[in-house]
Amino acid sequence: MKTQVKEIRAREILSTGGFPTVEAVVTLESGVVGVASVPYGTSAGKHEAVTLADGDPRRYRGKGMLKAVRNVNDVIAPKIRGLDALDQHTIDEHLISLDPTPQRRDIGGNAILSVSLACARAGSAASGLPLYRHIRDTYKTGGRDFVLPKPMVVVIEGGRHADNSTDLQEYLVGVVKDRGTRENVRAAIEVYLFLGTLLKKKGYSTNVGTEGAYAPTAIKSNEEPLSLIEEAMEDAGYKPGEDVGIAMDPAASEFVGDDGLYHLARDGQDLSPEDMIGYYECLVDKYCVYSIEDGLGEDDWSAWPVMNKRLGEKIMVIGDDLTVTNVDRLQKAIDTGAMNSILIKPNQVGTLTETIAAINLAQYNGLKVVVSHRGGGETTDTLIIDLAAATNADFVKVGPSRGERVVKYNRLMEIADDLGL
Ligand code: PGA
Ligand code: ZN
Repeated sequence: MKTQVKEIRAREILSTGGFPTVEAVVTLESGVVGVASVPYGTSAGKHEAVTLADGDPRRYRGKGMLKAVRNVNDVIAPKIRGLDALDQHTIDEHLISLDPTPQRRDIGGNAILSVSLACARAGSAASGLPLYRHIRDTYKTGGRDFVLPKPMVVVIEGGRHADNSTDLQEYLVGVVKDRGTRENVRAAIEVYLFLGTLLKKKGYSTNVGTEGAYAPTAIKSNEEPLSLIEEAMEDAGYKPGEDVGIAMDPAASEFVGDDGLYHLARDGQDLSPEDMIGYYECLVDKYCVYSIEDGLGEDDWSAWPVMNKRLGEKIMVIGDDLTVTNVDRLQKAIDTGAMNSILIKPNQVGTLTETIAAINLAQYNGLKVVVSHRGGGETTDTLIIDLAAATNADFVKVGPSRGERVVKYNRLMEIADDLGL
């Protein structure tokens, strides 16, 4: 059969930041090829599928990917060879059977995902369909019409993504009023551009962090970015809260201590979960914040439902490190009322099929879906955009500048052009 997998080869490629990652190339009997690469996070959640690195300090400071590459070539390839690339379910079942543990410690989530995604690409090429249509046909996602995701653009970053900036990891501009994809991208990016001018005017540096967002070192507090962003929205000619709004990803797992307190060094405050929720409530009242992701730690299960109760009517309460694109953790979050929206990152879980299962479960339960880039080791692969389009995700979260980020917005606009949206 022409669509059978004939050969799988992985290789080590460079990701952003200079550290390696894995790319897989799947060749079908017909000669059709599918290529995919896998990103990883700088502030990865504790419960994610692992990014298997070599740990050999003589190569890339311990972060070489030769083990993962070998696992693809020697362990995964023999198992997948001969399968039909159009049957993604069976391919992913085989991949999962190699390492069914949620964290894929044996084979590496990166090794598994590279093959899962490269097979999807090969399947898309073989069927002559754009990837977003191929994914939709394979999984019957998204309903009758395509509704493209709105951009959520990281404009200021701190935490582990930038030295000497805010404790909270990300401040984002999201489009509230849908003007069509190209205008949506334009609105969010224009706010980013005007924010640069404003920061300069205020004497702040406009150097950028790992996602290409500004990382002003002299910023006075974790709150200051919110007023700066609102000012930049006005400067750019958009109404805060009406046209565009602010999303935040504090990535609170990074600053919650073993004592259960949230340590905001820049503000000189140590807050209990209750006080942390109160802090967010004040920000939501004062600014056009419409979304907070990982406002609490990844294991603070008792506080999440409290936050969702207090804020969930007004804003998106998103789980990222809390749920790690994993249906079991998502089900627990649904059962406990922990959140009303989910961040989706395929490399948190390991296969396309499991990623889609998490999206389906979220959408079935009325949660909003945000498909996301990774903060650290990103690549120029744009598959997440096709995934978001295939599933009618509500938002895509990607940084504003640097090649590996803009290539994703460019893919989004390309799909919009294809669909006439
Ligand atoms: P990461 O962060 O990809 O570096 O883990 C991004 C996020 O937390 O959303
Ligand atoms: Zn996050």
